[in-house]
Amino acid sequence: MRRSVRPASTNPSGRSSVRRGAEIRVAQGEVLNLCANNYLGLANHPAIREAAIEGLHEHGYGMASVRFICGTQDLHTQLEQTISAFLGTEGTILYSSCFDANGGLFEVLLDEQDTIISDALNHASLIDGIRLCKAARLRYAYSDMTDLEAKLRESATSKHRLIATDGAFSMDGDLAQLDRIVTLAERYDAAVIVDDSHATSVLGRNGQGTPDHFGVADKIEIVTSTLGKALGGAVGGFTSGRKEIIELLRQRSRPYLFSNSFPPVIAAAAQRAVTLVAQGDELRARLRENATFFRAQLTALGFRLIPGEHPIISVMFGDAPLANKMAERLLEEGVYVVGSATRSCRKIKPGFWCRCRRPIRENSSSEPLPPSRSRRRNRRDPIETSIWPDQSLQSISLLQTDRLRAIP
Ligand SMILES: Cc1ncc(COP(=O)(O)O)c(C=O)c1O
Repeated sequence: MRRSVRPASTNPSGRSSVRRGAEIRVAQGEVLNLCANNYLGLANHPAIREAAIEGLHEHGYGMASVRFICGTQDLHTQLEQTISAFLGTEGTILYSSCFDANGGLFEVLLDEQDTIISDALNHASLIDGIRLCKAARLRYAYSDMTDLEAKLRESATSKHRLIATDGAFSMDGDLAQLDRIVTLAERYDAAVIVDDSHATSVLGRNGQGTPDHFGVADKIEIVTSTLGKALGGAVGGFTSGRKEIIELLRQRSRPYLFSNSFPPVIAAAAQRAVTLVAQGDELRARLRENATFFRAQLTALGFRLIPGEHPIISVMFGDAPLANKMAERLLEEGVYVVGSATRSCRKIKPGFWCRCRRPIRENSSSEPLPPSRSRRRNRRDPIETSIWPDQSLQSISLLQTDRLRAIP
């Protein structure tokens, strides 16, 4: 069997060497990082670092066991309780990642008599988790409520039906229409599970995510999420919901049963991260302001954005090489973004199938941005205007340098 291998990307991912912050050091020098999922700037927060060190000193490094044998410390159960209190759920179970949380969910809850109805653009981990399950699978078109309803009708004879969706779609930064999904779920007697990895801590009161943002938290059966983004940005994931479901997962979920417990360092640091996030209205307000400002400025400069309110901001270029070229050019100016082409773009924006993904996350830190050390900061050298269909040379120069750095 032969598989072709794509050439290595020209972007500098994986090569940064300084601590997480708004600026990182890559081969090209120090750059402003607009790619990380460090939404609230907590990935290098001193209180979290301190908690991690304490966790290491007091509880050791590795558990050398899965949770149910001898891999559970008070830190793990405390963190589960803290997350439940934070989200207002009855119980929570930790996993090594949200990928595992999604991977170990569906086969426990559903069997051949049931149906899972999944948004076509759900995260890979939901897709893989669903594949492991014996229930029938139906896919509705991306965020298409008419199609969701059709699939609910189609599965009328199933014993149980579960609708699965991302809360915030990671590539485009748009939100699942949870209010409408819940209405349909109630009408057709289905349950809803939300992967809220990109919205926990970011949206909703106290950062409770998309279920709270849409005022339907009490109608969502299960939430899965990650500790690897806004909640400190290290690793770890969880599933949260009714007590009976969490108990069932504890007894049967394979990634929980057959994979090591995550280290005390992470449990201790995540505990602090959840506390900071729950009290983090100021950080969220700042993140919102930054995202709104950034969206408005880019729009004023003539760039085409996927509309929305999430801090993931996708700028559409309509062409993969152009988006990559823009990303490379921005890197020269000391701004790190990545170009990406996804099927979501092809589907929802025919003709604009590629964009430069530009989440405004790293500079949401409570600390001010450090001054630019970009060697080429004031550069106004010519670039081929012909390759930038909608923008003048001047607007690009502004975007690349001063405006981005002026974001508070
Ligand atoms: C929507 C969504 N779900 C799950 C994951 C996986 O999270 P983790 O890194 O904790 O496995 C991601 C990470 O990219 C994600 O974007």
